[in-house]
Amino acid sequence: MDIHQTSPASGASSGQSGIAHAPVAPTHRSGANTTPRAEEPSFAALENLYRSVRGQTQVLCEPLETDDYMLQSMPEASPAKWHLAHTTWFFETFVLADYARHYRPFDPRFSFLFNSYYEAVGERWPRPQRGLLSRPTVGEVFRYRAHIDEAVYELMAYPMDPEAANRILLGLHHEQQHQELLVTDLKHAWSSNPIHPVYRPYKPDDGARALARWIGFGGGLVSIGHDGSAFAFDNEGPRHREFVDACEIASRLVTNAEYQEFIEDRGYERPELWLSDGWATLRAGRWDAPLYWQREEACSRWLNVTMAGLREVAPDEPVCHVSFFEADAYARWAGARLPTEAQWETAADAAITGNFLEGGRFHPAATIAADDRGPLHQVNGDVWQWTASPYVGYPGYNPPAGALGEYNGKFMCNQFVLRGASCVTPRSHARRTYRNFFPPEARWQFSGIRLARDCA
Ligand SMILES: [Fe+2]
Repeated sequence: MDIHQTSPASGASSGQSGIAHAPVAPTHRSGANTTPRAEEPSFAALENLYRSVRGQTQVLCEPLETDDYMLQSMPEASPAKWHLAHTTWFFETFVLADYARHYRPFDPRFSFLFNSYYEAVGERWPRPQRGLLSRPTVGEVFRYRAHIDEAVYELMAYPMDPEAANRILLGLHHEQQHQELLVTDLKHAWSSNPIHPVYRPYKPDDGARALARWIGFGGGLVSIGHDGSAFAFDNEGPRHREFVDACEIASRLVTNAEYQEFIEDRGYERPELWLSDGWATLRAGRWDAPLYWQREEACSRWLNVTMAGLREVAPDEPVCHVSFFEADAYARWAGARLPTEAQWETAADAAITGNFLEGGRFHPAATIAADDRGPLHQVNGDVWQWTASPYVGYPGYNPPAGALGEYNGKFMCNQFVLRGASCVTPRSHARRTYRNFFPPEARWQFSGIRLARDCA
């Protein structure tokens, strides 16, 4: 949806996200403007989207028991309860506090508890200790969500400042990011549980598997980045030109069977295949396989933790939960490399199809194809694809002014870009220009590998 089309003064035509400009002074609705804006289709669409996204978060919690909501298995991951509260805090802090007249915080202490990393907002509870917050209770957090929802619906019922609408839209895309994190963080926590909890079962794949082949893409000067016609995060723009070398890109993702060949060829024991930092990480962490893989010695087969419990590694599914270091080492072993993000975006089809959160599988799937013709498979969904590109700002990029400028820009150091989307990404969250980013050692996200190679 594009809520900006009826609000050209919002700055959305800049090609940046709806927040890509300094927050305007609050313009609380006046008592004279009390006509509901039901006739405004764009704002009605925003309300529908709000209802849908907020509801989706709570649907994701339906398989959880109260005991599950507080689990935090490592500093980088957060408890489900914290995700529920933090996404709500975002609307309270960046929408209601600035734009809702007479709004009173649900609990003033929550700003300290549920601020993630916004220095401009104030001090915050340490991220590694989010699992210690037994209070507020799960019930109180759901009441917090209901309180904020009611206030946002009231705000949306009347003429609203375009910037408030922009921030609501940003808050919804932010919440979709946290829907994915809620699942990946829960999976990491449950991976430590020897009884292997089941979030949701899925059926094994069946059907013919697509063959891997190389598809050539010509080089030259190309334009990449968001074009400003709909929502995007600020880091996806400005659209700009880059020179791309001609290359070949693999038609599908690397499978478990192919990655197993790398393991069996002593891929985790050969330092010549690894970047120095990757080798040090491997040694320190004693890595010998993707995260969640377990070797069953009695049968010499691999099992892995899934959202459906402990399952045998399926050979045709895309390899998943590998770090940038592993993706890079595998590519070197395979005589290939990772695509740059400009190559990936140039080659990717604009259509957004694939195995997403809404499919309810919560696990990557083998690509099914009756023949080996056609475009790239698995461009979106299944697993995020590591690229060779460090996460930096595009030419002309400047973070927005104010606290929301901290959303993306300050993380443009020591991370790599991933493209596509995963099996736990909401479909409406995926975009051809989307730039996900994680440190090179991170592997608890649904991250995998697509190979590229230079043209001779
Ligand atoms: Fe967040």
